[in-house]
Order: sequence, then C-alpha cells, then structure tokens
Amino acid sequence: MADQSAPSDKYTVAVNRGFTKTIAKKLGLPRPAILRRYAPDAPLTVGPVLVVSDDASAGDADALAKALLAWDVDVRRSAEGAGDVRWGGVVLVGTSAESPEAVSEAVLTLGSTLRRLAGNGRVVVVSRAPGAGDSPAVAATRAGFEGFTRSVGKELRAGATANGVQLTGGAAVDSTSALGTLRFFLSAKSAYVDGQVLPVGPSDTLEDVDWKQPLAGKVAVVTGAARGIGAAIARTLARDGAKVVVVDVPAAGESLAAVANEIKGTAVQLDVTAADAGTKILEATRHLGGIDILVHNAGILRDKLLANMKPAQWDAVIAVNLASQLRINEQLLTAGVEGLHIVSLASTSGIAGNKGQTNYAYSKSGVIGHTAATAPLVAQLGGTANAVAPGFIETEMTRSIPFATREVGRRIIPSLQQGGLPIDVAEAIAFLSSPVAHGVNGQVLRVCGQSMLGK
Ligand code: NAI
Repeated sequence: MADQSAPSDKYTVAVNRGFTKTIAKKLGLPRPAILRRYAPDAPLTVGPVLVVSDDASAGDADALAKALLAWDVDVRRSAEGAGDVRWGGVVLVGTSAESPEAVSEAVLTLGSTLRRLAGNGRVVVVSRAPGAGDSPAVAATRAGFEGFTRSVGKELRAGATANGVQLTGGAAVDSTSALGTLRFFLSAKSAYVDGQVLPVGPSDTLEDVDWKQPLAGKVAVVTGAARGIGAAIARTLARDGAKVVVVDVPAAGESLAAVANEIKGTAVQLDVTAADAGTKILEATRHLGGIDILVHNAGILRDKLLANMKPAQWDAVIAVNLASQLRINEQLLTAGVEGLHIVSLASTSGIAGNKGQTNYAYSKSGVIGHTAATAPLVAQLGGTANAVAPGFIETEMTRSIPFATREVGRRIIPSLQQGGLPIDVAEAIAFLSSPVAHGVNGQVLRVCGQSMLGK
C-alpha cells in the first residue's frame, strides 16, 4: 500500500534535516515540524500523559486516567517529581467545575507543563457543553474552555496540538465515544487537527474495541475515490478493516480500478449527480451485505468572481457538491438503511468564505447545513451524519496554485506552518465513521491545522 504519510512538502523536510536545518536555524526561517502520523505498531503518544483537573472534576479525571492505563499509556496524576520528563500529552479535565475561579489552578498547572511538552505532544481539554438549564456562572465556566482550547493550540509549537472533547446530553466522561474521541485527539491520527472542540453525546458502551481494525466487518462507499483525498479515504477505511466500494465518474475509470485493486475493493463507475445514484450505491453494496459507511467526497471547483459567474459554473458545483448528497441520502433513508454513518466533505471555505468561490462556499456551507438536519433522521435508524472541513491539503489541486501563493498559504497557518496531507482528512473520516464515534452526530470537524484558509 502506498506510503500516505510522507512529510507535507520539500521545505518542511529541508528545514528539519542536516545542513539546510542549520542554515534555516541561523537565518531564523520558519521551521514547521515534521508531523508524526499513525503507524500501527507505534505507541499512542510520544511520552507520558499527565491528567490534571479542578477539585470537583477529580473523579472524572481518575476515570480517564484508568482508561489511559488500559491503553498502556504511562499516565501520571501529578507533575510533581516528574523531573525532566517530556510530556507526550496533558489532559485537562474540567467537567464538573462550577465557577471560572475554580478552574484557575488546573489551567495554570497545564500552563506550567507546556515548556516540557514533547514535539508532536498533545493537549486535550475535556469539558461539558453549556446547556439550557445552566446558571450563568456554570455556562461561563463551560463555555470558557472553548476559547481557551483554541488559544492553547495557537501557542504550541513543534507539531503539538490542542483539542477539546466537549460532553453533551449528560454523556459520561468514560463513555465509549468520549474515550474514542480522547484517543483520536491524543493519537497521531489527528496530526493536522488543531484547536477543535468536538461535542460528544451519549453513546452505546462497546466492550473490547479493536483499536487496530475498528471498521472490521463494515462496508463503506467512498465517492470521488479515483484520486486525491477520496483515494486516501478509501485506503484508510480498508486499513481499518472495511470492505470498500470506490465510486467515480467513468472518465476516471482507470485510476479508480487501480485504487480498487490496491485495497481489494470494488470499483463502481457512477456520476453522483445521476438521478438514481443512491439506488445504484445500494445495489453495489447488496452482495457485500449492505452499507454501513457512506463518504460523500466527490467535489469540484469552478472558481469565478460572482460578477463573472456563468450559470453552468454555479450549477455544476451545486449539483456535484451538494444536490447529489441530498438526493443520495434521501434514497438511502427511504430504503430504511440502518446504522448508517455518513461523513460529508465540507471545506473551511464554506465557513470562512473565499474570494472567487461563492459557488463552492455555498455548496460547502450547504453540506454543513444538511448534515445538522440529516443527523436526527439517521439517528432514528441508529446512524450518524457528520462533516469534515479540510483546510489547505496538499493534493494535485493545491499543487496547481502558483508557488508564492501556495507557500504563503502554508506558512501562515499559526502553529503547524504547513499544509495537511490527504491522510489527515482520511483519518478524521475513519474516526467519525467508526462505531466508537457513535455519540458524535451532526458535527463539523475541521482538519485545517487551525487555519481558516479557503480551499
Ligand atoms: P480532486 O479533484 O483531486 O478529486 C475529486 C474526485 O471527485 C475526482 O476523482 C473526480 O473525478 C471525482 N468527481 C468529480 N465529480 C464527480 C461526479 N459527478 N461523480 C463522481 N465523482 C466525481 O479533489 P480533492 O482535492 O481530493 O478533494 C476531495 C474533496 O475534498 C472535495 O469534496 C473537495 O471539495 C474537498 N476539499 C478539498 C480540499 C483540498 O485542499 N484539496 C480542501 C477542502 C475540501
């Protein structure tokens, strides 16, 4: 299987190795870190993990420490006496705090460890979402963790990231989905996810999760899988144990067949805008025992300033990126598919907006909108619907951006200073489509190194 985790770009490699590293240091050039990506036999984190909490949240912190121990992590409950340890991760638990003052000590303890956070280390903040019945003080305490987490992410260096698990609907801190999300954020699988606070609701309790093959026995369909991000998603879902059906337009048939052969999957030549695309997807998965995972990845660009936009440019983008997803979902829901995990590709352009991309941004904002509305519908049948919003990802498409623009685009990304790889998007999708993420529904996870750059 192709190596999906080679470093992002030549500059990043050069400033991290040999003679060019020395020169870059002397000149004070930005030195983006080589991000650590998942390897099946590598440890979960790059060093010991410290779990800190305010007093009221100590019980939850103990429960998380116990779970980390079960994953063979060297876990500590105090930084005292740790000597010159380089932390692989620090988990801040603030689930039960009731006033902003109550969290000060734990937050400052976290701060005191950051200089000793290892390269590619992790900060994960576990909190509860503010809710309708909260007093103003409790709501403030809980909401504060969100801005806090995003800010810590911007302060970290050397490939380290900060993300948050935000419990909703009374989810227990050690419920399967809370633990699964914590594990994703601690692991190398979230290399390019930074500054994200993911709401996690109650979930089924799964015993004996197979963390190496979480998708064993599942059937997945990935659209637009002949190349780029779609091909990486197909490879990653196959790595995690799924049987994968790859879909793309007939014109991409040859590369689609190559991807299918590589992962021992099935190739289906299909234009997702076809009126019966959903029915065709159901037919293609029937002999495999049905469909468990659907990844809406097919997407196109037709960039133009709105003042110059031709109807065909607007319509094509809406048809492929948005309307096809609505139609396929409707056909699958009408057929009563149970336990379906849908993950749709959005984009940071759909959140921040981007000049020349009104059509694309409309389609990607639309994806975020329909995901929120689809979530309760699929939940009735035991499934989930989520979206992933990539930022600057190194693909054939971004390689076509002029050099200077591309270089600026990479380096202004606050702490990671580089674009992501297709594998980074694929890891987030594999996580969201796995049974452990059952409590994550209707959410948008950004895979953007905390940038808000357009596509
Ligand atoms: P790509 O252009 O390399 O690949 C897209 C694939 O979709 C191609 O294989 C294409 O043949 C297929 N496709 C297009 N129209 C189709 C149709 N009607 N039916 C079936 N297949 C069709 O694009 P890339 O970069 O891999 O992007 C994949 C997804 O990720 C897209 O939805 C894109 O909008 C999204 N994305 C990409 C970002 C990036 O930086 N590359 C950033 C944000 C979002």
